[in-house]
Amino acid sequence: MIPVARRGTFAALIISVALMPLQPAFAASPEPVKAEHGMVVTAQHLASDVGVEVLKKGGNAVDAAVAVGYALAVVYPTAGNIGGGGFMTIRLKDGKTTFLDFRERAPMASTKTMYLDDKGEIVKGASTAGYLAVGVPGSVMGFETAREKYGTLSREDLLAPAIRFAKDGFVLDQGDVASLQNGAKKLSKDKAAAAIFLKPDGKTFSIGETLVQPELAASLSSISEKGPDAFYKGAIADDIVKASAATGGILAKADFEQYTVRELKPVTCNYRGYEIASSPPPSSGGVIICEILNVLEGYPLSYLGYGSAETVHAMVEAMRHAYVDRNSALGDPDFVENPVEKLTDKAYAKEIREKINPFKAGVSKELMPKGMGESTETTHYSIVDNDGNAVAVTYTLNGSFGAGVVAPGTGILLNNEMDDFTSKPGSPNLYGLVQGEANAIAPKKTPLSSMSPTIISKDGKPFMVIGSPGGARIITITLEAIINVIDHGMSIQEAIDAPRIHHQWLPDKVYMEPFALSSDTLKLLTEMGHDVQIDASWPIWGQAAGILVGGKNLAEIEEGGGARYNGAMDSRAASGAARGY
Ligand code: GLY
Repeated sequence: MIPVARRGTFAALIISVALMPLQPAFAASPEPVKAEHGMVVTAQHLASDVGVEVLKKGGNAVDAAVAVGYALAVVYPTAGNIGGGGFMTIRLKDGKTTFLDFRERAPMASTKTMYLDDKGEIVKGASTAGYLAVGVPGSVMGFETAREKYGTLSREDLLAPAIRFAKDGFVLDQGDVASLQNGAKKLSKDKAAAAIFLKPDGKTFSIGETLVQPELAASLSSISEKGPDAFYKGAIADDIVKASAATGGILAKADFEQYTVRELKPVTCNYRGYEIASSPPPSSGGVIICEILNVLEGYPLSYLGYGSAETVHAMVEAMRHAYVDRNSALGDPDFVENPVEKLTDKAYAKEIREKINPFKAGVSKELMPKGMGESTETTHYSIVDNDGNAVAVTYTLNGSFGAGVVAPGTGILLNNEMDDFTSKPGSPNLYGLVQGEANAIAPKKTPLSSMSPTIISKDGKPFMVIGSPGGARIITITLEAIINVIDHGMSIQEAIDAPRIHHQWLPDKVYMEPFALSSDTLKLLTEMGHDVQIDASWPIWGQAAGILVGGKNLAEIEEGGGARYNGAMDSRAASGAARGY
């Protein structure tokens, strides 16, 4: 229990906090990367360089995002892709925001129970490995749609760096090698994947060696020449369908031919005067970030302090309530009615706050809806250009190296995004998410995502670009970076690097990164009834990529005189970099 003398502080503080100056929290992090004309932050330094080159050449942030997306498919094969899908949030210099959904769709032959055996039990691995796990990829169509609608440079220009890296190879650094080692077992099971990502003797590459991907170079070159038809209507689709059919998959040529990108309105909300624009369904990300922020707006987080028991308690309870909604109510908007308005309503947040006991942990089981777990290896990048156009992209193969399969001759790693669906209501998926009917499998349906590419503005100007990988934790990682900047006064680098906590309703546990909470805070939380567990697993805590505009932190922005663009790549990322010019 919180000591008796401190009880009642919540109410008093809610009244007094408005009068308090923001107390910056200081963490031990390097300075963000500063630049005046443009900033590109990605999980692989070579891809960040590609983005900056495109900006310098006169391309805008969307051009850079497209070139980076293709480059990451070569230099960051664990998550960068053309065999997967994702989301792009765009804020144009005139303030207009939009969102491109190029996530995977279920093949037309898919069924609700395709991952269950005749006893109704989940067949282990069926939704995560091999061709049955593969959703129809959207990245190529997504990049081309973005380029055609919002870009300025030619497809050939934007694909050239990726083709170069695939054809000539790139030198592997420590992070690249670690990620290939991590995927070696999975990749060794597929002949075509092993031939690319392992050496002829089956060993993994070493630091300083060069990874060359000639088949991927040929696939990218044909997309460069012929456009997305090369992927969706031509030889690439044929090769993938053939490999799928040969190994028990259900992908058909018509699945590729019918693939389309959806342009949607981002989910928006206002948090303490900041305008958040983030991912709408089929992502849960924007809705759930807004729901949690709306609940937290009623607590004086800045006063309560980063990592205090009261702050963590409020965050956990807000997350508990919001993840129930995520897992039970949301799905592909073409298939289910998503209660976005209700979940992002301030009045609904007030109702949730009224259910939160300030001194006692809630019980997840008691929130179980009637009738009723994602991958860490996604990647996020953030870009702003000299005109103030901002782009946030999160895209993925789902698991690290996706389904671990490459259709022979294509060089393209394929996703295992089908695991993001509910295989069986009430059973946890790869990431422990327990989901319901709204996210059941159906032909052409998109699985519910947590990806949250987010752009925040203040007073009509871009303020922050942020997002992260991390499976179910994408939402809380992105959320925590936002409140670390806005409530705790951290610099963008500190906000991203700060140790994290996570709660996702079920399992009813508070996960904390090592060193996130002090022993006395842990004691207080335990006394309140929280089951707190240290989780040191890698890379579940994600690698966020963010940009803050006008200063490295709020204090510098308010004073004026800070750098125009302040970029931060998560210190958890082994090969990433923020690059500006
Ligand atoms: N596969 C990760 C996500 O979409 O949330």
